[in-house]
Amino acid sequence: MGIGLLAASVLSFAPLDANATRIEYYATVADPPCVLNFVPSGLGYCDLSPGTGEKAPYSELINVHYTARFADGIVFDSTYKRGRPLTMRIGVGKILKGLDQGIFGGDGVPPMAVGGKRKLHIPPHLAYGPEPAGCFSGDCNIPGNATLVYDINFVGIYSGNRK
Ligand SMILES: *[C@@H]1O[C@H](CO)[C@@H](O)[C@H](O)[C@H]1NC(C)=O
Repeated sequence: MGIGLLAASVLSFAPLDANATRIEYYATVADPPCVLNFVPSGLGYCDLSPGTGEKAPYSELINVHYTARFADGIVFDSTYKRGRPLTMRIGVGKILKGLDQGIFGGDGVPPMAVGGKRKLHIPPHLAYGPEPAGCFSGDCNIPGNATLVYDINFVGIYSGNRK
């Protein structure tokens, strides 16, 4: 089914395999489902928590926790597994287009605020595109044309090693 083409769709996943359900990957698994809003770019988003802090400053570094899944619900990456958030520069094309738009906002997507929790449904053209990605020694983590689903927790603005 062309889920990306629907105006709105409730995220619900097939039962997850035992291998993937093991760990704290699933820090977000108890999150309630939410109804996706799709914007013209093809990105879908819905907010579990709006956040109360400042918005991501353009081109600055922010800290984000996330669980990243394929459309079938299988986790392929998670900052919860690593035990610390990822620091990323926002709004300037350093990360997946779908993450830039989904977190910084724009073209119909409201910006996230610190403390906010949002699900993002990212079609391949806003993710890794038609070719497999994340490849090491011929094994690729991300198949071509993969739609990705991110649970984003905007932890805070990165304060770096300011003294
Ligand atoms: C991705 O989709 C395009 C267009 O349908 C297709 O040409 C291409 O072969 C696909 N890539 C993979 C890796 O399946």
